[in-house]
Parts: sequence; C-alpha cells; structure tokens
Amino acid sequence: MNPRGDRRPRVVVGVGGGIAAYKSCEVIRRLADADVTVVPTEAALKFVGQATFEALSGNPVHSGVFTDVPAVNHVRTGQQADLVVIAPATADLMARAAAGRADDLLTSTLLVTRAPVIFAPAMHTEMWTHPATQANVATLRSRGAIVIPPAVGRLTGPDSGPGRLPEPEHIVELALTVLNRPDALPYDLAGRRVVITAGGTREELDPVRFLGNRSSGRQGFALALVAAARGAEVTLIAANVALPTPPGVRLVPVTDARSLQAAVVAEAATADVVVMAAAVADFRPANRQESKIKKVGDLEPDALALVRNPDILAGLVADRRGAVPLIVGFAAETGDENADVMTYAREKLRRKGCDLLVVNRVDGGRAFEVADNAAVILDSDGGATDVPFGPKTLLAAALWDAVAARGTGGPG
Ligand code: CTP
Repeated sequence: MNPRGDRRPRVVVGVGGGIAAYKSCEVIRRLADADVTVVPTEAALKFVGQATFEALSGNPVHSGVFTDVPAVNHVRTGQQADLVVIAPATADLMARAAAGRADDLLTSTLLVTRAPVIFAPAMHTEMWTHPATQANVATLRSRGAIVIPPAVGRLTGPDSGPGRLPEPEHIVELALTVLNRPDALPYDLAGRRVVITAGGTREELDPVRFLGNRSSGRQGFALALVAAARGAEVTLIAANVALPTPPGVRLVPVTDARSLQAAVVAEAATADVVVMAAAVADFRPANRQESKIKKVGDLEPDALALVRNPDILAGLVADRRGAVPLIVGFAAETGDENADVMTYAREKLRRKGCDLLVVNRVDGGRAFEVADNAAVILDSDGGATDVPFGPKTLLAAALWDAVAARGTGGPG
C-alpha cells in the first residue's frame, strides 16, 4: 500500500514570515514519523530561530540558495520531497509561488518539486479576501496545489475573522492523507453546499443524566475537513463533539435527536449533499424529569419507559423533491448467524432509500473512538467501493469521490 516501501516519507515544511510561524513548530512535531526538512523564508527566521527548526526536525535548515552550495539544495530539496507543506502560507509567499519566482530556497523548492504541495494560509482578513490573493490562490489551485481554507477567529492584534492558520492537527491530518493518497484532495467540490452530521445524540433523563452512545464525531469531522479542503461550502451539525472545528467549516451544535433533526431539515433545504454520519439514538426517555431523579430509601427504581425518536434519514428521503439533495447514510453493522454484514447493509440501503450508504464494520469494537476505520461504500446504482482499514480522512476522501461521481441524488 505504501508506494515508498519502508522508507520514511520526506516532507518539506516551508515556513512563511508571519506570526503564525510559531505554530509551524507544532506541525513539524506532529510529523515526527516523517523525514522533515524545514525551509523557512528569511522573514520566518525573524519569528522562529533556525536552531528551533533544526532541533525539531533533526535536519539542517537553510533559507537562502547560497549556503551549502555543493549540496545543490535549491534543486535537491524539491526533487526529493514526497510532499511540501507550507505553514503558514503568507499572502506574499503565495504571490511569489503563483508568479513562479525562485528568489529564495523555499520558492526554488516549490518550482522544482513535482510532489503534492499543501498551502495553509495565515494572514489578515483584508489580505486574504483581496482580489490579488484570491487570484493567486485560484492560480495555485489550477496548477494542482492544495490550498486549505484559513480558519476563522482571533488574528494578530484585536482583529478577528477568516485568516487564522488552520490548527496544526488539521494541517497534519491533511498532510498524512495526501502522503497516503496523493490524489485525495482535488478541488472538485467548489460550489457544492454540503451538510454533515457528526457525533452522538444525548437523550436527557433529567437535568444531569442522559442516554448517550460512544460516537466521538471523528468520522463526521474528517468528512468536513476533507470536503472543505476540496472546495465545498460545509455546514457541520455536531452532537456533543469535543473536537476543534475544521478550517472553512460552519459548526451548528446540537444535543438530542430532535434538535439534530430540526437543524438538518433547516440546512437540507439549500444543500446539494446531506451526509448523516451522526449516531442518532433510536429511543429517548418517555418522560424527561424536570429535577434530578432521587433515590427513595432502598426501593428499586421504576423501569425506564422509552419512546421512538424520529428516523431523520428516512424523513429526509421521504421529503426529497426532485433530484437534490444527494443523501448519504452511515450504517454500523455486524454479521450474525443468519446473514453476513454486506447482506444486512444492502438491505438497509434499500430500506432507507438513500443514494449512498457507508457501511462501517464494527466487529470487535472498531470504528468508535479510534482514528482508523474500514468500510464499504454502497451506491443505490448497485456499485460498491471497498475502503481498506486506514485513517478516517481516507474514508472521507473515498466518499467525496463517490459523491463527485454521482452528481445529484434521488430518483430524478
Ligand atoms: N439515523 C437517523 N435517525 C435515527 C437513527 C439513525 O437518521 N433515528 C441514521 C444514522 O445517522 C445513519 C443511518 O440512519 O446514517 C443508519 O443508522 P443505524 O443506527 O445503523 O441504522 P438503523 O436504521 O437504526 O438500523 P438498526 O439500528 O436496526 O441497525
């Protein structure tokens, strides 16, 4: 599976000259399993010292083309890379890259390399939204570079808005995805409005107790991270998830099945794709108590009465008018003595009437609370795509491939 055999992947981390340069240290740290060469610009070295980059990467660090000349670094660094990650990518650095300049070691490396390149932008909102920067981003994307949307939040000084460096963990998740599959992040979902549910609903018994499940929300968040990197406009409806919001993603927090349903129905009205990755409780307590349920002497508690929750996915399918949105369901399945997991999954796809069904194999407690997932993507057209055991972002990429291939959903 690994095209490099046992060799460690060679990753160039390019660091632009912005205050977010200090966060590149965390990116380098999280890439510890790779052979990392750090190439800062001269300006980046005003924010973080060469010694820090050398200590974190274990490799020598140069920024100009006139040091260590016999090693021909301005060519070798780019030739030998399996991946180049630019974090932070400043407006100036992207302008120089878009123009094809080669006036320092980093831009020379970008011109030489044929490896995938990921730009993680960081700059003030005005600089990000300026037509010059947007044109440079479009140019870089048209040449196959991956430009992650910046995060929204606090910037240098008192300002706040889009332009924050995406979290190092998101940058590294995308980097590892591309190392696994260089074509995992095409810019093919631009203009598509995607709604994703994630996490697990909590159905309250009283003000302090709830019925919940073990869903961490990781799969839904990975879907959102990858969709936004592929250009989609992403709304992530998250039930009780303790994970950072991926860059370029609008988060709608919800708690129980009914609040999740209300959010999904509202968002689905204008969506091209709805992905139901959340673990929705099938039942809720029939009577939520207004105050904490008390122990009464030594008496056994009353039996808990439950009622059915709405089947949100089935409701979406039933209410769908015409061809959109494309509806994707998730199913956690095991086989049993009567039938295997795929038989149950095909049956569920038919029953739910969605366009695509992602079948997680949960035998042995897999899929919950772990970073890796194995699955099959079933298409109502009859197709099936096997996604081998691997990071949840790779399953996400495979699902977006299937969505991009399908176009719209439904019988229309
Ligand atoms: N789902 C939903 N509303 C519910 C329960 C589930 O929208 N009340 C969605 C989930 O988000 C998922 C899909 O339905 O996309 C399948 O969920 P799962 O619990 O595996 O399937 P069920 O149809 O509930 O089947 P069963 O519990 O019998 O396995």
